[in-house]
Amino acid sequence: MTNYKLLHQQLLSLTEGVGDTISNLANASALLFHTLEGLNWAGFYLYKEGALLLGPFPGKTACTKIPMGNGVCGTAAEKGETIVVPDVHAFPGHIACDGDSNSEIVIPLYLRGSLYGVLDIDSPVFDRFSEEDREGLERFARALETVLE
Ligand code: SME
Repeated sequence: MTNYKLLHQQLLSLTEGVGDTISNLANASALLFHTLEGLNWAGFYLYKEGALLLGPFPGKTACTKIPMGNGVCGTAAEKGETIVVPDVHAFPGHIACDGDSNSEIVIPLYLRGSLYGVLDIDSPVFDRFSEEDREGLERFARALETVLE
């Protein structure tokens, strides 16, 4: 089980005084990848010119551009809500960037009320993300939004 309180504090320490979004997203994704158990990918897609473009992540190489409404990421971004997928193979239109992924969670990120991108976390374990994970990761996302530029 993940200690989300500690994770939150680590994010605040890592990002304090940095002042650069890419640096903060890079460290935030590395922190997630090495703290949560059973992940194969953790990173960001950033909203640019009407689509989601690949941002910082640890994991295997991934698709670089996801149109709004496509896959889990594009659906979460379009709806403006977190999507937890216990079995990605059962999600219509799932984009299989990494064949190891079996479950995922995608959380949209906002800056000053506008879509900034999504946090996408993938696992080879089916049904990896519990309600507790969703709450902890949404809180993580809200903290991260405060250091976006
Ligand atoms: N899982 C995503 C695609 C991105 S990769 O998994 C890194 C989706 O279906 O939106």
